[in-house]
Amino acid sequence: MILVTGGAGFIGTNFVLDWLEQSDEPIINLDILNYAGNLENLGILAADERHTFVRGDIGDSVLLNSILERHQPRAIINFAAESHVDRSIHGPEDFIQTNIVGTFRLLEAGRAYWNGLNEKAKQDFRFLHVSTDEVYGSLAKDEPAFNETHRYEPNSPYSASKAASDHLVRAYHHTYGLPVLTSNCSNNYGPYQFPEKLIPLIIVNALAGKPLPVYGDGQQIRDWLYVKDHCSALRRMLEAGIPGETYNIGGWNEKPNIDIVHTVCALLDALRPLTIGPYRSLIAFVTDRPGHDRRYAIDAGKIERELGWKPVETFETGIRKTVQWYLDNPAWIGNVQSGSYRTWIDKNYERRA
Ligand code: NAD
Ligand code: DAU
Repeated sequence: MILVTGGAGFIGTNFVLDWLEQSDEPIINLDILNYAGNLENLGILAADERHTFVRGDIGDSVLLNSILERHQPRAIINFAAESHVDRSIHGPEDFIQTNIVGTFRLLEAGRAYWNGLNEKAKQDFRFLHVSTDEVYGSLAKDEPAFNETHRYEPNSPYSASKAASDHLVRAYHHTYGLPVLTSNCSNNYGPYQFPEKLIPLIIVNALAGKPLPVYGDGQQIRDWLYVKDHCSALRRMLEAGIPGETYNIGGWNEKPNIDIVHTVCALLDALRPLTIGPYRSLIAFVTDRPGHDRRYAIDAGKIERELGWKPVETFETGIRKTVQWYLDNPAWIGNVQSGSYRTWIDKNYERRA
């Protein structure tokens, strides 16, 4: 049995579904179900005894202790986080609470539980912390991609809170010997991503005939990885990662934002053409994100060399699957665009010129 936190969010959902497709090892899934957490994602598992869902906070030590004692997991995989940079700019407090204090409480509970295990179980136990490439800061155009020894230089409240959590995880290994692993992954895309993030936002706005907001000049570069490739990297880390090590995960897919938007528009032109003209006519360049990092790029050489992991999807295959998934799931799109979603969209976009 493994404990997954944040398993009703975008990556957590994909991880849980993939895990149970490939193994019968049960999962306990702890998620607070904030605006991005969605149990509908896991509806297919409603009657599946291998999946136990608990609604709760990774910052709740009493709950954590009781889950660990009762279910005796062999690993904890921590996806739970506040994950959206723009929201961290509007309101950083929740990021500090969940990403820093929450991770600290999870580490504390994990450490107490791990200390009580027998020697063999102690050796086999893993605490896998899922982090981001954003902790490394921003790269200039010609700088080499981030490797695992790149210095931490977080620039947003989100990335600073993730950086703090990474440091705590590292310290729990160094000080207490907790067998931790940390992953630093680049931008994910794929099914079930909440439409506040670039790719699903562009898809759902385009389908609704709304403007497609591109921040600044649209030349910021991100390194895109199909979510299922991220999940396979995490499974590989659990199997073979060396405790105390960090692994960068990425797809060698650097692209400027405007190219991403053009690609999505072109796919929609082919799959669901607009009568009034091409989707790219909806593109609107809007006021930039404050402190916007210019470029991220991941050197995934270490996980490829040492753990033999490689992504399966190219950007072209992954983005086609993603656009098709949103076209096939209009009910899901409708259900996540609740009142609180509309409030967020107004807050983030209304005052952008
Ligand atoms: P998400 O926002 O879609 O999902 C986060 C999930 O965590 C939600 O289900 C939410 O309800 C849950 N959660 C939030 N606070 C919680 C708390 N206090 N207790 C329990 N559950 C809580 O995010 P995501 O995109 O799936 O990201 C998952 C993890 O991967 C995050 O740690 C993020 O930093 C990291 N990451 C994301 C990306 C990306 O491109 N999306 C890339 C690299 C790393
Ligand atoms: O790099 C990994 C990170 O990727 C993760 O740690 C974060 O959890 C995840 O949200 C993502 O962060 P980004 O800020 O890169 O993702 P987002 O989808 O918000 O934005 C991608 C790029 O697109 C970024 O340069 C900002 C730009 N953008 C975004 C939105 C929402 C726009 O131009 N317009 C938009 O409306």
